[in-house]
Amino acid sequence: MPDELYQQKQSLFDRWAGFYDLTLTSVFYQAVHRRLLDSIQLPDQPYVLDLGCGTGKLLNRLAQYQPDLTGLGVDLSPDMIAQANRVNKGPERMGYQVGNAVALALEDDSFDAVFNTITFLHYPEPEQVLAEVRRVLKSGGRYYLADFAPRWAEEPEVLAQGMSPIQFYSPAVREQLAVEAGLTVLEHTWLLGPVLLTTFG
Ligand SMILES: C[S@@+](CC[C@H](N)C(=O)[O-])C[C@H]1O[C@@H](n2cnc3c(N)ncnc32)[C@H](O)[C@@H]1O
Repeated sequence: MPDELYQQKQSLFDRWAGFYDLTLTSVFYQAVHRRLLDSIQLPDQPYVLDLGCGTGKLLNRLAQYQPDLTGLGVDLSPDMIAQANRVNKGPERMGYQVGNAVALALEDDSFDAVFNTITFLHYPEPEQVLAEVRRVLKSGGRYYLADFAPRWAEEPEVLAQGMSPIQFYSPAVREQLAVEAGLTVLEHTWLLGPVLLTTFG
């Protein structure tokens, strides 16, 4: 079943890729990216991963924010990655590759920070993604998860978007998932409307 779901997600985002940056939702997400920059701390010369990078807007913004940053964007959708290479390639120190967050073709202990904006809601296997994040994060690294959150639910809130279900995770559920993955929640910050940033260490 997850394989089928990943295929549905991939074709949904492949179809969306060409006009993704022009939609109102993306304008909202870019406002989220701007707010996110106020809540992050990166070491000098950081190597960062943007998981579910879409068209690469956030990675490009991070490269401008911190000029000594090196970054990699990974996304399930080949068309999103093609679009990222076309419009947000930026300097040579930025790269993009197709990949599924549940099985990253990346070395252990590689990244100083992992970013994950408006993407976690799409994962049918969130525990496995968190295990991968933990594996690729360096010791002392940070994981920034910004996504829609219900303010009160104790269980993940599931919505079916046609054939493509999405799930929202409250602060309490994020904390529980962190413990299971061997991560720690450092703080929760409401970024914009219902979008909650959770910083994990
Ligand atoms: C709503 S877009 C957000 C894109 C970008 N992070 C932003 O802030 O605009 C969600 C992205 O997650 C990607 N995605 C969904 N499931 C994924 C998975 N299992 N692994 C990697 N990327 C995934 C989609 O292809 C899509 O580009």
